[in-house]
Order: sequence, then C-alpha cells, then structure tokens
Amino acid sequence: SDLEKLKPRPPVVTIMGHVDHGKTSLLDYIRKEKVAAGEAGGITQAIGAYRVPVEVEGETHTCVFLDTPGHEAFSAMRARGAKVTDIAVIVVAADDGVRPQTLEAISHAKAAEVPIVVAINKVDKDGASVEKVMQELSAQAQLYPEEWGGDVAMVPVSAKKGTGVDELLEAIMLVAEVSEFSANPDREAKGTVIEATLDRKRGPLATVVVQCGTLRRGDVMLCGDAFGKVRALLDHTGKSLKEAGPSEAVQVMGLSGVPAAGEVFEIRPDLDDARSKAEERGY
Ligand code: GTP
Ligand code: NA
Ligand code: MG
Repeated sequence: SDLEKLKPRPPVVTIMGHVDHGKTSLLDYIRKEKVAAGEAGGITQAIGAYRVPVEVEGETHTCVFLDTPGHEAFSAMRARGAKVTDIAVIVVAADDGVRPQTLEAISHAKAAEVPIVVAINKVDKDGASVEKVMQELSAQAQLYPEEWGGDVAMVPVSAKKGTGVDELLEAIMLVAEVSEFSANPDREAKGTVIEATLDRKRGPLATVVVQCGTLRRGDVMLCGDAFGKVRALLDHTGKSLKEAGPSEAVQVMGLSGVPAAGEVFEIRPDLDDARSKAEERGY
C-alpha cells in the first residue's frame, strides 16, 4: 500500500509576520549563509523557494523555505484547501512587539493546524525586549514559550547580524523531527501552485511544490483548467531538472494557461485526457 512506501521528506517552511519585522532579511541571511555558500557564485534566485542544509547533531538535514507566500497568499491557498506549509515561522520584531499582522499570521497558522516556531527578531536593536514579546504572545495569542513551561520554541535572532539563526534552524528541524513528514516518492506527482506568471518568451510559468510522488519532465499536468506536457522543470537557480520529488519546489514550463496560487495539480495519462478534464472545469 501507499502507507508502506512512505519515505521521510524535508519540511516546507513559510515565514510570516507583521510588516517590516524582518521576514525578508531573515530569509536573505539564511539564503546567503546556508544556500549561496553551497552554490558556485551565489546564483540569483529564479523562484521564491529554496532548500537549506541544516546541521543538527552532526547530521545534515534539508529544509525547504517558501519566500513567496505572504499571509495573503497563505490564506488564498487555505481558502482552496491547499496545505503546502508544514511549519510556520512567525517573525516578531523585539523592538516593536506583537502587532495586528502578527496575530493574523498566528491565527492563519493555527487554523491550518500548522506547528509554529517564533523568531524574535532585531535583538541587536536598542529597546529590544525578548521577554516583552514572550509576554505579549502569551497574553494575546495563547502561545507559551518553552522557557516558561509552554510548548512553542521562541528563538531570539538578529537577521542583521546572524545571531541565533542556527538555533532557529535547529528549532525548526526539531519540530520537523517530531512531525515525521513523509510522502511516497514512487507514484505520480501531486502538489500545489505557489505562484504563476505569464512569461512573454516562455509562456505560462508555474512554481509548484511537489507534495507526493515525483514530477518528471514529459509528464502531462492538469492544474485547474490549465494543462500541458511538462517541457521543462527549473530549480531555484534556474537549472533544468529531469525530476522533482516530495517537498521540492520547481518552476514548470509547458502549461496552456496561468493557474492561480493555491491550485492543486495532478498528472494525467495523456494530453487528450487532460484536455477533456480541463474543459469540464473551464469557463
Ligand atoms: P515586509 O515584507 O515589507 O513586510 O517587511 P519584512 O518583514 O520582510 O522586513 P524586512 O526584511 O524588509 O526588514 C525591514 C527593516 O528592518 C529593514 O530596514 C531591515 O534592514 C531591518 N531589519 C530586519 N531585521 C533586522 C535585524 O535583525 N536588526 C536590525 N537592526 N534591523 C533589521
Ligand atoms: Na519591509
Ligand atoms: Mg519582506
């Protein structure tokens, strides 16, 4: 059965939080330190998703970060029933504290039943108070830090200086370990679109996260009322791939149209089948 064929897969992590609390800075730091270091020349991102090697107790694990979904995309996906994110990292600036969008992000994560790790950012700044943030999260969001007997890892970090980032990655991997994320790679791929655009030269481009199975070049994809043979799969550096397994994010070329973020894709036996399914759905 499918259950017997489950294999561990990397966690897919989304960063959320109030405006200017340092989400992009944190991702930039992680990317530069952990991803670019492993890539010749620190290649520019082609898509808003990347794999990060994380060392925990001498073992290297992989973590996939989604750069795109702000909480609007996150709620759009949730409205479509898509659950791409395994772990939510809530960023709170320690000099500003819990703000309306912090609470909104937390309620999205809770509604989706996604485990939460908190990054208390900007600890290098004057007026930063880690304890105040913990108090506010306890009082306003019922998130209780491990330090105080609760069950939420809250890690003080500075995206500017890099302080605490290794500890944050370890906390994320601990949650992943407990959750035992797994998928069967030996089946047809299924997954979700995280963003899509129309490229003037290359046509519709969809960035998808593979959630189970393995997506291959040449597969016939059906995605909402868009369909097509996968002409190319590109990784976050723009490199062409033959296939992408569970938790991998790739850009897909070859669809007939631009699917919406949060649309689910599946693989069909051939183009005629995909076209007729797409027409049933089309408007
Ligand atoms: P939006 O995407 O606009 O919501 O913002 P964001 O959450 O991505 O924040 P961003 O990374 O753009 O950072 C906002 C500002 O805070 C920038 O000026 C950053 O340089 C600054 N900043 C981010 N992290 C830190 C930090 O750890 N320390 C200090 N001192 N400044 C920081
Ligand atoms: Na900003
Ligand atoms: Mg940002």
